[in-house]
Amino acid sequence: MSGLRAIAPDALTEAEAAEELAALAAEIARHDALYHQQDRPAISDAAYDLLKRRNDAIEARFPALVRLDSPARRVGAAPARGFAKARHRRPMLSLDNAFDAADIAGFVSRIRNFLGLPETERLAVVAEPKIDGASINLTYEQGRFVRGATRGDGAEGEDVTTNLLTLADLPRTLQSPAPALIEIRGEVYMERGEFLALNAGLEAEGEEPFMNPRNAAAGSLRQKDAAVTATRPLRLFAYAMGEVSEKVADTHHGFLDRLLAWGFHVNPRSTLLDDWSAAASFQDGIGAERASLPYDIDGVVYKLDRLDWQERLGFVGRAPRWAIAWKFPAEQATTVLRDIEIQIGRTGALTPRAVMDPVTVGGVVVRHATLHNADEIARKDIRIGDTVIIQRAGDVIPQVLGVVLEKRPAGAVPYVFPDRCPACGSHAVRPEGEVVRRCTGGLICPAQVVERLRHFASRGAVDIEGLGEENVILFHEAGLIRSPADIFRLKEHRATILGWKGWKARKLDNILDGIEARRRIPLDRLIFGLGIRRIGEANAKLLARHYGSYAAWREAMIAARIIGSEAREALGSIIGIGPAIADELVEFFAEPRNLDALDALDALMAEVTAEDVAAPEGSDSALAGKTIVFTGTLETMTRPEAKARAEALGAKVTDSVSKKTDIVVVGADAGSKADKATALGVRTVTEAEWRALAGFAPS
Ligand code: IVH
Repeated sequence: MSGLRAIAPDALTEAEAAEELAALAAEIARHDALYHQQDRPAISDAAYDLLKRRNDAIEARFPALVRLDSPARRVGAAPARGFAKARHRRPMLSLDNAFDAADIAGFVSRIRNFLGLPETERLAVVAEPKIDGASINLTYEQGRFVRGATRGDGAEGEDVTTNLLTLADLPRTLQSPAPALIEIRGEVYMERGEFLALNAGLEAEGEEPFMNPRNAAAGSLRQKDAAVTATRPLRLFAYAMGEVSEKVADTHHGFLDRLLAWGFHVNPRSTLLDDWSAAASFQDGIGAERASLPYDIDGVVYKLDRLDWQERLGFVGRAPRWAIAWKFPAEQATTVLRDIEIQIGRTGALTPRAVMDPVTVGGVVVRHATLHNADEIARKDIRIGDTVIIQRAGDVIPQVLGVVLEKRPAGAVPYVFPDRCPACGSHAVRPEGEVVRRCTGGLICPAQVVERLRHFASRGAVDIEGLGEENVILFHEAGLIRSPADIFRLKEHRATILGWKGWKARKLDNILDGIEARRRIPLDRLIFGLGIRRIGEANAKLLARHYGSYAAWREAMIAARIIGSEAREALGSIIGIGPAIADELVEFFAEPRNLDALDALDALMAEVTAEDVAAPEGSDSALAGKTIVFTGTLETMTRPEAKARAEALGAKVTDSVSKKTDIVVVGADAGSKADKATALGVRTVTEAEWRALAGFAPS
């Protein structure tokens, strides 16, 4: 083979190395194709491995020469569809939003509360402009860039390594001493001017322009062909870390300095403030500068500077307790309201939606806005034909704020909210004290059924690729799917569907494959997917963690129907669930119109397997799987911190002591709970013992 040499990599000149890497890339790609696509390998596995190892050795010696099409970045042939999945070593989460100084004050006091810090303790923070682009996770091993992935669902994204290698801002090797392993997080974005030029070019070629710089960045990063990505003006700012094998800094600003030393771009406006109280004036300053920045920002991210505090604070739900995004005030516009549509949610709620003349707000074209509920429409006296003021803040759904009365057309009449469900004609009733009107049709209401199915298949729930709203409606109307279980039997109707106009085998098989791929479902996603009122992702996780397995959960839901039963008490005492949500949950299975909810669930379970929930992280901890109650005052940490740590170690924290409690941590001035524990023979521990069990340093 030309270009391949037997010289040790160290002895190669750079030109020779480049030539040989090119030859290796071509040769290995040829063997990949022979092996994976034609099933006709031309060389032995051992000979193939030798080629790969030679390639790796030369790349390690000359990291700057690593090619876009490097064989080390490809595993076999390209995956059949889309990008390969890439699991993040630590989840990529989002941020809570603040809209004013009061939100920030609340946030800061929660931090003080958690850490038990006095008002006098100054809290240094780093302020970083928040660019809306595509967030990415970059993995470096031994200082070399090995993989880059999109955020995806937070746990798992798409492997876009090859495309990222086209970015000039991406360091391929870290330029100063680096840990053995580090995940760097940042934002791939496009400057406004470059975005406009890109769109002009696309339009000139008769192609669809991008809606905004964010879509342009995300779309360009996810091109199937890296050569296309290479032509797009993508830039990168780094701002956070995920998994790391050793400590790299004591503070966030120290970490940003390390990023700079490694060769990353860090937003030059990132600023260390010596206390939170300086946030408001920073926010005003950057707000004034906003229009003159070369990229769009929608707010500022404030991060607590001390990393040891960040570590202790940890996360709640999908967001850290130590950072917040303070968004700029929402943008407003006026347009004409043409109609009010009623949408029916999966729990039967009738939600009014404004249909308007298209208008641009904050860089996005808006045609619909939420009107919330009947009371809101009446309170604002919104009438069809009115000129309305709408507002869009960050990524929230646009809202109708009010009406420009001077522009009201003659003859406009007050809006009458329907008392029947527009989808099934059933009565829509509004229970005492509630603002929402609900369709009473239950499972006979096609809109509710479709919404439940759509929710079940959606990304946050069971995540069935290809089964979006449009297809759910189609299959439902044809009578092929009425319940989640039917989805898993859709393949029995393959021939029928292929008889429909426009249905090619390939398209249908993609959907059927997407369904087959979900026959094992993590228990929390399954519970969330059922679409029970008030059981969102976070509560579904709490339940899955608490009960551990599908069987245990099902049994508990049935037992909990009896008010006052131990199962009902246990459900209500899961911290974060509480009695009100417990009632809702029990009702879902007990209400007459849902009588068949359990039947439907059993039918579903005949098709799928729920994956038990293993205790997270320290499942080797002595606390994993234990049920803990805290009582009395802890002196060395706050109650929120103690609870968060217990849960991170796989324990459940509940409010009341019962036979099922494993450990009661007794603080100062403990009362009846400690007595009850003794009476029931439940193990009690002191605060010092708790610290040892939970792995805190002795105080
Ligand atoms: S920190 C746990 N820093 O905002 C920390 N995020 O709403 C999470 N973003 O998905 C991220 N600029 O895409 C962080 N300086 C910044 C950011 C930033 C933009 C985006 C990022 C993230 C989203 C969270």
